[in-house]
Amino acid sequence: MPDRRGIALIYEEYGNPDEVLKLQEFALPELRDGEVLIRMDAAAIHPSDLGMIGGSYGNLRGLPAIGGREGVGTVVELGPGVGSDWEGKQVRLPGEGGAWTSHVVSRADVLSVVPSDIAAEQAALAAVNPPTAIRLLRDFADLQEGDWVVQNAGNSAVGIAVIQLARARGINTASLVRREGLVTPMKELGADLVVLDHRDAVGSIRDATAGARVPLGLNSIGGTSVLTVAQSLSDGGTVVTFGGMTGEKVRFPTRQLIFNDIRFCGFWLDRWNRKHGRVEAEALLNEAYEAIRQGVLFTNIEEMYPLKDYRKALEHNGSGRIGKILFSNG
Ligand SMILES: NC(=O)c1ccc[n+]([C@@H]2O[C@H](COP(=O)([O-])OP(=O)(O)OC[C@H]3O[C@@H](n4cnc5c(N)ncnc54)[C@H](OP(=O)(O)O)[C@@H]3O)[C@@H](O)[C@H]2O)c1
Repeated sequence: MPDRRGIALIYEEYGNPDEVLKLQEFALPELRDGEVLIRMDAAAIHPSDLGMIGGSYGNLRGLPAIGGREGVGTVVELGPGVGSDWEGKQVRLPGEGGAWTSHVVSRADVLSVVPSDIAAEQAALAAVNPPTAIRLLRDFADLQEGDWVVQNAGNSAVGIAVIQLARARGINTASLVRREGLVTPMKELGADLVVLDHRDAVGSIRDATAGARVPLGLNSIGGTSVLTVAQSLSDGGTVVTFGGMTGEKVRFPTRQLIFNDIRFCGFWLDRWNRKHGRVEAEALLNEAYEAIRQGVLFTNIEEMYPLKDYRKALEHNGSGRIGKILFSNG
């Protein structure tokens, strides 16, 4: 019988995660018909988690809420009517209830089982960023071998996934970053061109891509960084905005809009999943698992922190990284 108490990182008001998150103990409920108890093994910290806690995200939870939306765990207890084959299965945490918790109770029949050959830490990062990178490279440009994709926040988990998936298709990537020290490690991860995110970067990107098609630009920052991405594209290219790390408005380069027919649009995986439904969302997730299995996709993990060390985890998350921070149980 597992310990009958759990812990969770909760917030009762929207605000700065450092200020509003609290570690709370709770009694694990008795399981009802069809329910299982899941022990969290690994849970991601994503920018969108912080946006949800801050109250700025497109989809907010009612309060009080548990933080986090992505993670995996192990089924450790079965309620009445649940088949014994569920015991010990690795499953995705049902994200809508929060992932930054030691235990979750869920109906077994709604759970997504994680393939047994995918490591928990990689699985805990498989359902948000890799599917986003897959869709970004598939839905907005007819990318051919030898083409280039330009992106900012190249060292983000989505950015690295874009680099890895593009490389597997013979597509080149030009990545903007904020620190010189990222150039070598990113090249080791498969990046073709890595340049500092500055207006001069357009020249370096144009030199590297000379004569090749650059039909796609990816923006997850906002502000002037988007101008660099847009100005690096070929005529008729598309800039897709899928994040806003600075909180600044996306700046449009008027000349490129008019004379180069550059298009701007947005992408949100939550909307894609809702629109396409559970079967297609699961198929997309399985595609991500397959890419992990084949060694095409690998998310760097900088460190795992137990839930109780959440302040250290958030501080590390806010510092320059080239890998994700995860929570472990405890
Ligand atoms: N629309 C969607 O469906 C969707 C899905 C997944 C992710 N996203 C978005 O994709 C982006 C990346 O997510 P992730 O999980 O891959 O991130 P991550 O691995 O946690 O990395 C965060 C990235 O943001 C950069 N960054 C942070 N603050 C910044 C600032 N003030 N100015 C410029 N750059 C800044 C970091 O650069 P440094 O290392 O230099 O700090 C790093 O490259 C986020 O905006 C996220 O919300 C969107």
